[in-house]
Amino acid sequence: MGKTIVIVGGQWGDEGKGKIVDILTGDADVVCRYNGGNNAGHTVVVGTENFKFHLIPSGILHRSKMNVLGNGVVIDPEVLIGEIEGLASRGFSVSEKNLSISSSAHVIKKSHIEEDEKKGRAIGTTGRGIGPCYVSKISRSGLRMMDFIKSSSPYANRLKPFVKDTYLIVNNAISNGKNVLLEGAQGTLLDIDHGTYPYVTSSNPIAGGACTGIGISPKSISSIIAVLKAYSTRVGSGPYPTELGTENETKSEDRDLGLTTQDFDGANKGNEYLQGKVLRKQGMEYGTTTKRPRRTGWFDCVAARYANTINGTDGMAITKLDVLTGLNKLKVCVAYDTGGKRIANFPLDIEVLSRCRPVYREFRGWQEDISHARKLSELPKEARLYLDALQNLTGTPIAMVSVGPERSQTIILKKKLLF
Ligand code: IMP
Repeated sequence: MGKTIVIVGGQWGDEGKGKIVDILTGDADVVCRYNGGNNAGHTVVVGTENFKFHLIPSGILHRSKMNVLGNGVVIDPEVLIGEIEGLASRGFSVSEKNLSISSSAHVIKKSHIEEDEKKGRAIGTTGRGIGPCYVSKISRSGLRMMDFIKSSSPYANRLKPFVKDTYLIVNNAISNGKNVLLEGAQGTLLDIDHGTYPYVTSSNPIAGGACTGIGISPKSISSIIAVLKAYSTRVGSGPYPTELGTENETKSEDRDLGLTTQDFDGANKGNEYLQGKVLRKQGMEYGTTTKRPRRTGWFDCVAARYANTINGTDGMAITKLDVLTGLNKLKVCVAYDTGGKRIANFPLDIEVLSRCRPVYREFRGWQEDISHARKLSELPKEARLYLDALQNLTGTPIAMVSVGPERSQTIILKKKLLF
C-alpha cells in the first residue's frame, strides 16, 4: 500500500519545506506542487551544491521520480523554461519522463506581471504576476496550459511535451500503490481564505488546497506534515504579533554585514530588534525570490495551533532549531493580549490581530553546536525542553526536527507518519 503525504507550510512561508520535501522525496514515486507559482522559492543543499527552485518540485534532483505541476499552480513559461535549462546545464535532464504540467494550470502573462508590479506594492507581493493571474482564472478569462501550447508563443512548443491531464498520473499512482508527495508553496497564514487577508497570497497553500490543486480526493491523503520554523518569519506586510524589532528597522539593515559580538550581547540583554537580527543573520533569512530581508520573531503557538487546526496536521516538522543557538533566553508566544483581554484562539479580523500583544513563556537557550545531533538524546537538555514545549503548547506531535540545511542534519521522531 502506498501513501499520499501532504507537506504544508505552518507559518508565513519559508519554513524550510524544500528540505523536508527533499528528504521524503527519496521514498516517493510522484512529487507534486499544488499551488502558487514562482513567488515561491526554496533552496536545497546537496553536498556542496546549492539548488534554488521556484516552480519545479525538488524531486527532480532524485532523477527517477515523476514531478507534477498541478492545476492549482500558475506558471510563467519563461521562468519554467529557465529552470528546466538551468537544471540541464548542471547535469539534471528534465524531460516528459520526469516532469508533467497540468493542462489546466494557468499561465502568467506579461500583463499580469506589469499589473502586480504596479498594484501589489501595498501588500508587498513578490511582483511575479501571481495575484493578477489568479484573478484571470477566477473571472474565467485566464489562459490555460492546454491552450497556451496551441498558441504562437515561442515557448509553446518547448513546453508542449510536458503538458498532460495530470489528474490521471496522480490518481493512477495512488491506485497502483505508489507513494505520492504533495508539496504546498507559501504557508497557512498566507492562504487566500484562511490567512491574514488582505496580506496574503492568492492561492490555497493549506492541506485542503492539495486536493483542489491536483485533483485528488481528501480520502486519499494518508498524513499531513506541517513545517514550522523553531522561530518565525514573515516577508511583505501584514500583522505579525511576535515580530522582533520593526518592519522599518529590518528593511534598513545592511544584509552584507555579519553579526558582531555587540549584536549578541545586546540580544542577550533583551534588545528585541537585536534578537530578531540574530535570527535573521544566523538563519540567513533573506528571500530566495526577492532577496528581501525577512521580518523575524519568536515561535507563535496561537498561530501554530490555528494552522494545525485548519490543516489537520498529523505531525510537525520543526526546522532551523540550530538557528536559536547562542541566545541565552528563548520566548514562545502562548496567548495574545488584546488590551487587557487574553485570547488563546487566532482572531480572523486583522484589525484585532494587529492589536494583539504576545503573552510569552520563557525558556533557557543553549550555547552548544547542535548541527551534529541525529537523535533527540544528542541535543542539549534545554533544546529538548524547548521542543517538548512546542509539542505540548500546540497539542501536535513533532515528526521531524531539522538542525541544519543538509539532508543528513535531521532527527526523525515519527517515522510512521512518513513513507
Ligand atoms: P504574492 O504571492 O507575490 O502575491 O505575494 C503576496 C504575499 O505573500 C506577500 O506578502 C509575499 O511576500 C508573500 N509570499 C508569496 N510567496 C511567498 C513565499 O514563498 N514565502 C514567503 N512569503 C511569500
